[in-house]
Amino acid sequence: MKRKILDMLKQQQTWVSGEQLCRELGVSRTAVWKHIGSLREDGYDIEARANLGYRLRRVPDTPFPAEVIAGLDTAVVGRRVEYYPEVASTNEEARQLAQAGCAEGTVVVADAQNGGKGRMGRGWFSPRAKGLWFSVVLRPPVNPMETPQVTMVAAVAVAAALREHTGVRAGIKWPNDILVKGRKICGILVELNAEADRVNFMVAGVGLNVNVARDEFPPEVRDTATSLLQETGRHVPRVPLFRAVLAQLDRWYGRWLEEGFASVLDAWRRLCVTLDCPVTVHTMRDSFHGHALDVDETGALLVRTPEGQIKRLLAGEVTLRRLY
Ligand code: BTN
Repeated sequence: MKRKILDMLKQQQTWVSGEQLCRELGVSRTAVWKHIGSLREDGYDIEARANLGYRLRRVPDTPFPAEVIAGLDTAVVGRRVEYYPEVASTNEEARQLAQAGCAEGTVVVADAQNGGKGRMGRGWFSPRAKGLWFSVVLRPPVNPMETPQVTMVAAVAVAAALREHTGVRAGIKWPNDILVKGRKICGILVELNAEADRVNFMVAGVGLNVNVARDEFPPEVRDTATSLLQETGRHVPRVPLFRAVLAQLDRWYGRWLEEGFASVLDAWRRLCVTLDCPVTVHTMRDSFHGHALDVDETGALLVRTPEGQIKRLLAGEVTLRRLY
């Protein structure tokens, strides 16, 4: 009902009388008033005047499904959007929805996370209303061996959306960190649920720092993290940015499924800031210096060690030994 009232206010773009709302929706004036109150609590700026009725003045910059889906033209990603004011981790919520059989492309977004998960068992700082913390359920019909490619699909999509929508020159650090001038603006955590030869589902979690001020970051990441606020010098509205990111995710995911990994890899190479760079590699087992040469057709990073040996990395983390 609340959604229907909102739709009517949006459609008419002018005063809508209480009487019309009651009549068309078949509810009492008190019910209309209650729903208007609830929309206001959500941040919708609704003016009320005797004799005129209600008028929608401004919508909130919160990724409510009604705001995100309006104007979102995607085939798969975002066909369903679930919003939570706060969760432990959107990856966790998405995993549960996926296990219960939700449609591919379902997106779970939260205004805040209190147990945001990062790669390598780390946490992810996810303050309220300052970023885009979301996860997408994917069910690609591929062999589990090919799934590392999905992290690269997501990285290309986010970097492309940032460039297109904000003009910020975002680059990719292998495998899927998004950096701006050497600082991390976005992290991607892709989790897999598979059997030996088939993927049940994947959850692609994206944490994009939008309006986080430098001094709001925890001290331990203050010098290595950044946000769009810091890079552009202005507050960036989250909802249109979210739509741009979802649209690019949809575009690159579709391309990957239809055309294969080659076109993704091309775009990834163009956006990558780790290739042809001296790097330090950290794996579960050891750390070593080397020179990042290329990524192969599976998405593995090829690193030449000082002894001239070429190592092929499927997982791990690299640190750039100089800023690009
Ligand atoms: C990284 O360590 O670089 C990956 C960070 C991924 C964070 C996002 S925020 C939304 C989603 N939910 C989580 O708990 N993690 C991912």
